[in-house]
Amino acid sequence: MAVTGLSRLYGNGCINQMGELAQLLGRTKALIVADKGIMQTDIVDRIKAGLDNENIAYAVYDKNEPNPPIRASEEAYEMLVAEGCDFIIGVGGGSNMDCAKGVNILKHNPAPLMQYANFAKPFNVGDGLIMVPTTAGTGSEMSDGAILSDENHIKQNFIADGAFADYCVIDPELMAGMPPKLTASTGLDALAHAIESHMGTLNNDFIQFMAEKTIDQIAEYLPIAVADGKNMEARGKMAVAAAVGGYLLVYGHTCAGHSIGQTLGGYFNIPHGTACAYALPWVIEFNAPAIPAIVKRIGEALGCEFSGSETPEQIGAMVRDAFIVFRDEKCKLPSIKTFDYDESKFDEIAQVCADEFFQQFNPRTMTKDDCLAVLKNMYA
Ligand SMILES: [Fe+2]
Repeated sequence: MAVTGLSRLYGNGCINQMGELAQLLGRTKALIVADKGIMQTDIVDRIKAGLDNENIAYAVYDKNEPNPPIRASEEAYEMLVAEGCDFIIGVGGGSNMDCAKGVNILKHNPAPLMQYANFAKPFNVGDGLIMVPTTAGTGSEMSDGAILSDENHIKQNFIADGAFADYCVIDPELMAGMPPKLTASTGLDALAHAIESHMGTLNNDFIQFMAEKTIDQIAEYLPIAVADGKNMEARGKMAVAAAVGGYLLVYGHTCAGHSIGQTLGGYFNIPHGTACAYALPWVIEFNAPAIPAIVKRIGEALGCEFSGSETPEQIGAMVRDAFIVFRDEKCKLPSIKTFDYDESKFDEIAQVCADEFFQQFNPRTMTKDDCLAVLKNMYA
């Protein structure tokens, strides 16, 4: 196959080119990393059909879980070795793509995986990884990190410079079947990536350029995708926004919204985007005194009209409320109280949130008591 035959890796139906891509990369057998939910769709069958067309073999690991455990990556890696696979296709939302990244780390570095968490030990960046997002949210397809849970349900960050997938195949058709709740939760995660990278201490002109466009695009198209999942223009715009959000994760990271959101998600098994979307308005308000102009720009995208005489605190409160209206009324995200929770754990969780890795990028230092106040507001 000529290189020019691989016409596109973004667009409706581009998933059908998976076999051509594998052939171009000189690979012979794929480990497809999925979960039970993805196996109930025709997506893996479409990938298999593309691979069959080019005589590329495959094995499927379908036992991954939400908030992916480190042990799932280890199990899938054992399958990769046993089956003699020479590349990995992560297909699904962030959970499956992150699980696949964990497999790829093990493919190129000695076990155990946990030794590479949170920059404790550098790991080699290895090739042989293709991402197929089926949601528009996590940006894992474009980011250089994976978030995996240890045996205590604590989220661990596995990040390395340049640890990107070789390719991501972004096909909005694969996202058209997402129900409204999942569309909202994942889309709000992408919005959180753009907002938090823009608020964070690594913000610069480059990040601002991408973050503002991403925020604007999600503010316009996420409510449409939630209301009409078959609207392919909205699905395409969200797929691109989510991927750019992944790029923002690489260069801008997140800040306190994700520190609290992903910690809470790990404790109470709340979908990542939902937990972040509940934490974020309170974090935006908390940060407004330090970065009022940035918070104001975020508010404008969400429909705020400012007179120009607002104090930073007033800006924070207005944008907090605008975010909540966007989340609850336009995106119709269900209440966080629909997930089981235990208030007696809040004190312990607040400490983990305050110590979490991404707090270092928040523009204002957030203490344990600040985190506890956010948790209480989220559940008020
Ligand atoms: Fe996220």
